Amino acid sequence: MKLINCSLIEFKKIGSEKGYLTPIESNNDIPFEIKRIYYIYDVPNVRRGFHSHKDLEQVLIAIKGKVKILIKNGEKEEIVTLEKPNEGLYIGPMVWREMYDFSKDCVLLVLASELYDESDYIRDYNKYLEMSNKYFSN
Ligand code: TYD
Repeated sequence: MKLINCSLIEFKKIGSEKGYLTPIESNNDIPFEIKRIYYIYDVPNVRRGFHSHKDLEQVLIAIKGKVKILIKNGEKEEIVTLEKPNEGLYIGPMVWREMYDFSKDCVLLVLASELYDESDYIRDYNKYLEMSNKYFSN
């Protein structure tokens, strides 16, 4: 991936005649300790997200269905389609994200490195550009 602080992670997919299983361990399969999980589902034809985080790290996994994620850092942007339950999109600090084109059945699981903290959000895009310019120029 060309965006700093973003990467795709392929998780194990353990299959047998009984189906598949994907394990995810803190610090082993993802680069942080999981403090919170949440999931987004039953999303109509809308875009969500429109924010960055100052410090939070997250891994997004479409454990069911399909969704597109737009990630950008002010200079570059990339669109990632998530549709495999054994693939995660790591998004680190200071990356703007928008999620859209959720399939009807999509369940987007998010693993997060911190508890919910509204003060870690940057929801204003101009403020984000200002802060990300400084962050990425260091
Ligand atoms: P938000 O992060 O803005 O959703 P999205 O980026 O997907 O559009 O969160 C939506 C609402 O849910 C907002 O009022 C905050 C609340 N929320 C929590 O209470 N806990 C959480 O862990 C998260 C992620 C959101």
